Amino acid sequence: MAAPPTASRRGLISALMLVAAVCVAVVALVVLLPAARSDPYTRSTLQLSGSGERGEQLFLINCAGCHGIAAQGLVGPNLHGVNSRKNNRQLIQQVVSGRTPPMPRFQPEPQAMADLLAYLHTLT
Ligand code: HEC
Repeated sequence: MAAPPTASRRGLISALMLVAAVCVAVVALVVLLPAARSDPYTRSTLQLSGSGERGEQLFLINCAGCHGIAAQGLVGPNLHGVNSRKNNRQLIQQVVSGRTPPMPRFQPEPQAMADLLAYLHTLT
């Protein structure tokens, strides 16, 4: 039995790879996005009302070394206006995920995270 011509086999492989890529993308959208939206830590943080003053104290202790005492930027970027670039979920992810080294992964209690968010909102 003759093997199919190489070109059509390559076409088939590319088509299968495309199908696999689409499947991965669909799974990511269907499973991961809602999971990220409904993650319990984020949900409980967003239900709390934060204090900008306590948030500033937390910021001075944990964040100012990199972002500057007035959040003006140092090793890390200037954070003024950051809440117009990132929504609350993204800000929480930024703090707790550790996805953007050298910024470490923080694990504040939900109330402390709510306070930090309140402080970040004061930075216009
Ligand atoms: C070791 C240094 C370091 C520390 C400590 C640190 N950061 Fe960062 N931070 C960074 C760096 C570097 C980036 C830029 C990351 C990137 O996008 O590549 C960043 C990015 C950010 C951003 C996103 C800025 C933007 O323009 O999108 C926010 C918000 C932020 N940090 C908040 C905080 C908070 C709140 C804390 C304290 C809980 C903190 N950071 C502590 C280094 C640090």
